[in-house]
Amino acid sequence: SATTFTAYRSSILHFTESPNAQGEGVEYFQDGVLILADGKVHQLGNSQDLLPQVADLGASLVEFPDSLIMPGFIDSHVHYPQVDVIGCFGEQLLDWLNNYTFPAEMRFAQREYADAAAALFLQQLLAGGTTTAMVYCTVHPQSVEAFFTASQALNTCMIAGKVLMDRNAPQALQDTAQSGYEQSQQLIDGWHNQGRQKYVVTPRFAPTSTPEQMRLAGKLLADNPGVYMQTHLSENTAELAWVRDLFPDNKHYLDVYDKFGLLGPTSVFGHGIHLSEEEWQRLADTGSGIAFCPTSNLFLGSGLFDLATARQHGVSVSLATDVGAGTSLCQLVTLNEAYKVAQLRGLALHPYEAFYWLTLGNAKALMLDDTIGNFEAGKTADFIVLNSSSVPLVDYRVQQCKTLWEKLFVMMTLGDDRLIQHTYIAGQQAYSA
Ligand code: GUN
Ligand code: ZN
Repeated sequence: SATTFTAYRSSILHFTESPNAQGEGVEYFQDGVLILADGKVHQLGNSQDLLPQVADLGASLVEFPDSLIMPGFIDSHVHYPQVDVIGCFGEQLLDWLNNYTFPAEMRFAQREYADAAAALFLQQLLAGGTTTAMVYCTVHPQSVEAFFTASQALNTCMIAGKVLMDRNAPQALQDTAQSGYEQSQQLIDGWHNQGRQKYVVTPRFAPTSTPEQMRLAGKLLADNPGVYMQTHLSENTAELAWVRDLFPDNKHYLDVYDKFGLLGPTSVFGHGIHLSEEEWQRLADTGSGIAFCPTSNLFLGSGLFDLATARQHGVSVSLATDVGAGTSLCQLVTLNEAYKVAQLRGLALHPYEAFYWLTLGNAKALMLDDTIGNFEAGKTADFIVLNSSSVPLVDYRVQQCKTLWEKLFVMMTLGDDRLIQHTYIAGQQAYSA
């Protein structure tokens, strides 16, 4: 059948590589046109150059005046069942898990509950400008079925997995090493690379998995190339002490995961706040990634992630919300907090780096940059339309800015999901304010 061409006219921003402050790696069109062919990027350029082309192709043209088109944001660590516990008062990690989070996750034994939660979560992600995420479900396989079914219907690219947890948690939230292994393999068979869905093997964290369960997690990764791994690492000092008690023979926290073959370029470790020199080095040597979750780290009082040290070691760092310990599903809000955490660690996060991070940077960290992250021809057209005039204070401040990077910095400091006007998935409008 004939190719369908669609075109969008607006200011357009994306990144061709990791940018520097001089603007290399930044591609910006004040009056740009993005032409899609069957939901994939066909061409990007100045409207002067491309409008004749739009006419020749017979493309429909949608104009967004005073708006900014960017690639959809990517969130590398988020718990969809924890939308139910955002903003629970007063606890740090271990009490927060026991008192709020585990009880909430029990509800996902019911498929209907999971279906409704997955739909709400995905709508809220899109409303915040996020089009792809790496997602924790619960221990229940039906929570994963619910999530992938909802994502498949939206045609979003999502990486998700069943939590593995066979000790130190309420009985109702425990699997066994064997059942967790079998259920994970079934979910991989059913969902990995089905449409845009991808599977991530998900041992929650070392305290809630027996050595046997983590050994089998390593076997799942070895047996299923291309499948991801996610877990939590070195978030909270009480957690660290607990891990030392449970694994006295390992030289450090990361070593527990290392011994079971859980490190590598498709592995994403949440947090990594209290790491030793040796752990940084091992993360770098294995190409393992860290998900930096600033709103969560501040909310739970976990600590200030050391971005400068991560960079010195060449460790891949992605940016994530970690809802429900995180307090917003919107990555603009997450950037605002990331900037402040970096300030306290002696590093100023430049707005070009910041927006690169949310798009091509996170795509690379999740090895998805072959299909998403920028508007290179052939990539899938997941994009957002931002409009600062929807928030009077942002509008007022943006008007005063002389440069693009200053405007972007105001958007990440004052902005939130009110700036997101439309979200497109593979060229189809999936959300509109
Ligand atoms: N460590 C183990 N489980 C969790 C979780 O659900 N959230 C956070 N922030 N840390 C964890
Ligand atoms: Zn988490």
